Amino acid sequence: MAAFCKQINSGHEVGAFPLTGKQIDWSNLGFEYTKTDYRFSARWRDGQWSDGELLSSEFIQIHEGAPALHYAQQCFEGMKAQTARDGRILLFRPELNSERMQRTCDRLSMPRVPTELFLHGVEEAVRANQDWVPPYGSGASLYIRPLLIGVGANMGLRPAKEYEFRVIVSPVGPYYKSGGLSLISLAVSDFDRAAPHGTGDVKAGANYPGGLYATRKAHDLGANEALYLDAAEHRYIEEAGSANIIISINQGKEMITPKSAAILPSITRRSIMILAEQELGMKATERPIDLRREVASFEEVAACGTAAVLSPVGKIWFDQQWHHFHGHGEKVGPVMQELYDLLSGIQRGEREDKFGWTSAVRR
Ligand SMILES: Cc1ncc(COP(=O)(O)O)c(C=O)c1O
Repeated sequence: MAAFCKQINSGHEVGAFPLTGKQIDWSNLGFEYTKTDYRFSARWRDGQWSDGELLSSEFIQIHEGAPALHYAQQCFEGMKAQTARDGRILLFRPELNSERMQRTCDRLSMPRVPTELFLHGVEEAVRANQDWVPPYGSGASLYIRPLLIGVGANMGLRPAKEYEFRVIVSPVGPYYKSGGLSLISLAVSDFDRAAPHGTGDVKAGANYPGGLYATRKAHDLGANEALYLDAAEHRYIEEAGSANIIISINQGKEMITPKSAAILPSITRRSIMILAEQELGMKATERPIDLRREVASFEEVAACGTAAVLSPVGKIWFDQQWHHFHGHGEKVGPVMQELYDLLSGIQRGEREDKFGWTSAVRR
């Protein structure tokens, strides 16, 4: 692959990105799309990936017969870049996103995006848009959305003949409206997110639109997000609409998280479970969690993911009532507070990165 990216539709030379500084109220950003200057795009055709290039247009022209449009042959990833105290722009475990996208590609019969191309696309998109990376201390970050879509003419249900890999970025604020590290609420959904042997464990776009209705129902109950139980028995906790669940029990000595083949293996959760075990000395266990039978033992509950970071859950609605955690108050419990501080401290380069989880984007 070429070691540089070509810019088109713009008068700038390679590497000469305008350093104008953006007039943005970084601390009041929501989790919304903002058009940035560049996106990375590579195409797969005849079994070959192109080198990829930076584009300035936010539009993709695709054939009306594209399998992405008809059969949702599409997948994506989500990650963040943050400005560290020393000014570096840090990525958090991007190789795991690449690995997960490859697993998704296998499941959806799409060509794998090679790790080198994935990481190159992510770095180029961030580097080209470095003016859009929110400053240290603003509470905002640059959300990175790699996506892969099946394009080209097609009609029957079979894999696309061409694919577009694109990386777009957008500065974002907190995912939940409550913002900062305040308690959110979840409502158990009557609907299922994913079948036991379906595609719930990969990041297929098709897993998400069914959840829009469930989320609306959760909002109607005053909750921030839907919480799904297992589709077979509606008994075991699976995950929230866009985040995994972690629960501390046993006077903060143990951290448990649902074991299920139908949930998305969260990179944030994997990291938090390591921090709980190695930094807080907790016993960290992934196992089926029976909501009704075990709820009385839950001390602190949280949703976790790239967008949610670690969002403590104050209460969950099910069986016609709210069930409270974190001591019933509005205060975040000590375990989740400490884990949030540890995780976000590493992600922002404020704490020693013992595990080698962050990498700096070349400017
Ligand atoms: C359904 C679902 N679960 C969990 C997560 C959290 O995963 P990660 O920590 O890798 O962002 C996400 C978001 O990416 C998601 O969409």
